[in-house]
Amino acid sequence: MKHFPVLLEEVIENLKINKNGIYVDLTLGRAGHSSEILKKLDKGHLYAFDKDFDAIKESEKKLSKISNNFTLIHSDFQNLESELKKYNIKKIDGILVDLGVSSPQLDEAERGFSYNKDARLDMRMNRNQTLDAHYIVNHYSEEELISLLKNNADVMLPQRVAKGIILNRPINTTLELVEIIKKSLPAKIVRIKNPAKAVFQAIRIAVNNELDSLNILLNQAINFLNKNGKLLIITFHSIEDRIVKKFFKSLLEQDNIDPKLPIMVEKTWKSKSFLPSKEELNLNKRSRSAKLRVLTKLK
Ligand SMILES: C[S@@+](CC[C@H](N)C(=O)[O-])C[C@H]1O[C@@H](n2cnc3c(N)ncnc32)[C@H](O)[C@@H]1O
Repeated sequence: MKHFPVLLEEVIENLKINKNGIYVDLTLGRAGHSSEILKKLDKGHLYAFDKDFDAIKESEKKLSKISNNFTLIHSDFQNLESELKKYNIKKIDGILVDLGVSSPQLDEAERGFSYNKDARLDMRMNRNQTLDAHYIVNHYSEEELISLLKNNADVMLPQRVAKGIILNRPINTTLELVEIIKKSLPAKIVRIKNPAKAVFQAIRIAVNNELDSLNILLNQAINFLNKNGKLLIITFHSIEDRIVKKFFKSLLEQDNIDPKLPIMVEKTWKSKSFLPSKEELNLNKRSRSAKLRVLTKLK
């Protein structure tokens, strides 16, 4: 399947790549964004993270055809600080985070991410990890399930879904789970939109500890930015976008001192956001829910 990196033009334009700078792509995937960054580097270097080893393996081939100015790091991006320390990197000109799952993760049925393809419940981005969707679905208590359904996605009637899961254990495959979700909810809700989408999102986020990783990362990332350095984050749902928006807002607020004081304040941070263009929306269905937020460190 053809791979379209989401908001690619906007990402490249906003990174304002310095050909001798240091760039970090924290969500390599199939190197869609990384390839374009690497093409623009001369003496600069690209560090790219992914916790899925398939992404590292596949992207290495692709990136080597462009240049050797890159280093691939098989790790969760919450380890940004400790991983970059190994390479003695203290400052970065641009950081990109394109959150969520990649198209290959969704397309390869056996990864168990898709609610349209039958497979064992899995959803691990890092296949070396022990916690998977099968464990969560079959072992979490009703309260734990309700809490993750509420906190990780806008799941309708989470109590009913959790009860349905508990009553139908053991549940082994994705399509078994889809049927149970549908049976647990009133037909009216099921007709409006497939309720499995939100439930799968909630479970996937729990399996991969996505919201904690994002929170940890945000606090580390800003300390690495050079003057005019950029932090770009693409989100795909309101819960992760809210985390990023709130974090950026808290930084912008630090610039606002009492307007009555007779001093001029030089701002430290600037932020803006972008949605996919109409052309991109027509070309790539997956971009529909994407939003790019760009934070610039001004001094
Ligand atoms: C949306 S895809 C990125 C696609 C990529 N920008 C491209 O154009 O090919 C997200 C990727 O980030 C990885 N990922 C998600 N969360 C991660 C985390 N906390 N640490 C490291 N990698 C992560 C996933 O395994 C997946 O490969």
